[in-house]
Amino acid sequence: MRLFLVLPHLLLFLSVFSLTRTQTSAPSTYAATTPAAVTQTTAPPTPTPPQTKAPTTPLTTTTSPKTPTITPPRTTVTTSPTSPLPAPQIFYPFGSAAGDSINPAADDGGSSVIPLLSPFLYFGRTYQQIYVNNNGDLTFSQNLEQYVPYVFPGNGSQDIIAGLWTDLDNRERGVVSYNQYTNGSVLTRATQDINNYFPYLTFTASWVFVATWDKVAYYPVTDTKTSFQMVLISDSSNSFVLMNYGDIAVAGQQVEAGYDTINSTNYFVIPGSNNGISISNLQNSSNVSDPGRWVFRVDGGPETNRENVVGLQADLVSFLDLTESANMQIVLQQIKQELVKKGLPSNINLELRKIKKINP
Ligand SMILES: *[C@@H]1O[C@H](CO)[C@@H](O)[C@H](O)[C@H]1NC(C)=O
Ligand SMILES: *[C@@H]1O[C@H](CO)[C@@H](O)[C@H](O)[C@H]1NC(C)=O
Ligand SMILES: *[C@@H]1O[C@H](CO)[C@@H](O)[C@H](O)[C@H]1NC(C)=O
Ligand SMILES: *[C@@H]1O[C@H](CO)[C@@H](O)[C@H](O)[C@H]1NC(C)=O
Ligand SMILES: *[C@@H]1O[C@H](CO)[C@@H](O)[C@H](O)[C@H]1NC(C)=O
Repeated sequence: MRLFLVLPHLLLFLSVFSLTRTQTSAPSTYAATTPAAVTQTTAPPTPTPPQTKAPTTPLTTTTSPKTPTITPPRTTVTTSPTSPLPAPQIFYPFGSAAGDSINPAADDGGSSVIPLLSPFLYFGRTYQQIYVNNNGDLTFSQNLEQYVPYVFPGNGSQDIIAGLWTDLDNRERGVVSYNQYTNGSVLTRATQDINNYFPYLTFTASWVFVATWDKVAYYPVTDTKTSFQMVLISDSSNSFVLMNYGDIAVAGQQVEAGYDTINSTNYFVIPGSNNGISISNLQNSSNVSDPGRWVFRVDGGPETNRENVVGLQADLVSFLDLTESANMQIVLQQIKQELVKKGLPSNINLELRKIKKINP
């Protein structure tokens, strides 16, 4: 079990070793208490019974009627911004300035097949091509026009990475674009990000794929603007996905963010992402230390599912306190007590893996 401690000014990476091998998962509901507010961010990837909402043939194009010809009258938007807000800092370069290829503006459309400059390993399968589908997802074997997401795990026949799978419509508002890199500053940035999020790996990115939805409307060309990004990062044997969320408009339709695989051997739904009313929270939630960003290792290698990640928040007086190993032991003991109170076995050991000052 690996722990991320997000302190006001510090990042701690801890390892928890359970002496009883059978005890591999913690209870999934933790109450937030001081000094250590504990939130479990992962569910163990145990098989889940099929959801009743999942279509029986989830991967075929949805056939329910849709009337793309009906476009609401375009009234003057009262909230016309004087200057567009800049993209969030967490976004990788995108758009025409970054030399992106731009998807055709088409409801339920998408890119044609995109040959990858480097193969991408996704839970044991190696792909040489990808599709950027306008409805907010990436697929590998064929394009996907489906605009109503099925619930993950869908036990389907296709691998899918869903930054925000829903009925998006860029015919009149918003741009969907993509680019891939095998050199330059984008690779440097990806390398830094992955080493930061996975401190026990030594990773050097050799390929990055960036797909961006910039201020895209929901169907049918409403005045909503939703911005997010999926970043695929690889060194050809390890692969990762970053999901970056900017402004996400409230949605009155089905939505879902996460990923799923053939037969749902691996899947994840970002908590809260399947509720259109609270979908805007994506810009504030995270499983790393950067609000609005979710990070997943997706090659399917041995490390992928071995660990449960627990987030903790605590207040500390000073960083210097923690540079003394005796002080660190005291803090670790206190964290351990809190974890045991929350249901972890009392014979766990906590070890400090890395400590990093993130603010002055
Ligand atoms: C993000 O969360 C997912 C699911 O909880 C987990 O598999 C993944 O390892 C996490 N990423 C990091 C960097 O902790
Ligand atoms: C997944 O689909 C396969 C083939 O349709 C079926 O045999 C299997 O029982 C399903 N598994 C789950 C968990 O629904
Ligand atoms: C960088 O990669 C691009 C393809 O992504 C290639 O066209 C270009 O020649 C490369 N530049 C260098 C300096 O390697
Ligand atoms: C998915 O499940 C079906 C039915 O159980 C099986 O025939 C197929 O081989 C599985 N596919 C993969 C990639 O595991
Ligand atoms: C997200 O963060 C922003 C900036 O801190 C804040 O204004 C907004 O209320 C937050 N949204 C939610 C849903 O927490």
